Amino acid sequence: MNLIESLNQRYASKMMNGTKIPEEKFQTILEAIRLAPTSLGLQPFKVLIVENQALKDKIFEKAAPGQPQIPTCSHLLIFAANRKITRDMLDEYFELIEATRDLPAEKLLAYRNIMNGLVDKSEEQNFNWAARQTYIALGFGLVSAALLGLDSVPIEGFSASVLDELLNLKEQNLGSVTMFALGNRDEEKDYNAKLPKVRKSKEYLFVKL
Ligand SMILES: Cc1cc2nc3c(=O)[nH]c(=O)nc-3n(C[C@H](O)[C@H](O)[C@H](O)COP(=O)(O)O)c2cc1C
Repeated sequence: MNLIESLNQRYASKMMNGTKIPEEKFQTILEAIRLAPTSLGLQPFKVLIVENQALKDKIFEKAAPGQPQIPTCSHLLIFAANRKITRDMLDEYFELIEATRDLPAEKLLAYRNIMNGLVDKSEEQNFNWAARQTYIALGFGLVSAALLGLDSVPIEGFSASVLDELLNLKEQNLGSVTMFALGNRDEEKDYNAKLPKVRKSKEYLFVKL
């Protein structure tokens, strides 16, 4: 299947059947998420992996009761953005650049100065910026799942404050932004599986200037 065929056949699954997806495909999705670009390359988030059934059930019950894909999925990913960009985070990032590219710190000073500005911004500004980065990573995960023929659904319909409390995210300088459930559809109950895709036309969406 080519890219557009895969994107046409993917859809937001409304019910999964509880079976596991192949580990190799799951690892490929994680790698695609890791390779997603982020502004300034900082990757200011963590992706939490939930496979444990009891924890999936708890998240469904407490933070996302309207999302039956959560207890029935194979793997649930939680994209959690950094609340505050700290000097320590920048130090760690620059050590990684220096080691990966074999560069002395002096060569990176101008870049570092640009990034230092992030530390001076408010927690709200940092979090909003970091949260936007998670959506790009989520998009990479979505496209990868489609290409691998896996069912999935992005989930924003949950209480972030409840989830953050449940997983102690605030203490880890994190805030949940979105979730991504991966698995195999329930052939009978997944009503979205057979519905035609609703999309605006090319003529409407793309505006040639
Ligand atoms: C950021 C984001 C958040 C979403 N949140 C939910 C959600 O909480 N629950 C759900 O069932 N679907 C959710 N969706 C799925 C969308 O409703 C769905 O992608 C959209 O209607 C287009 O349909 P399609 O994905 O089947 O082509 C979300 C999609 C995105 C991109």
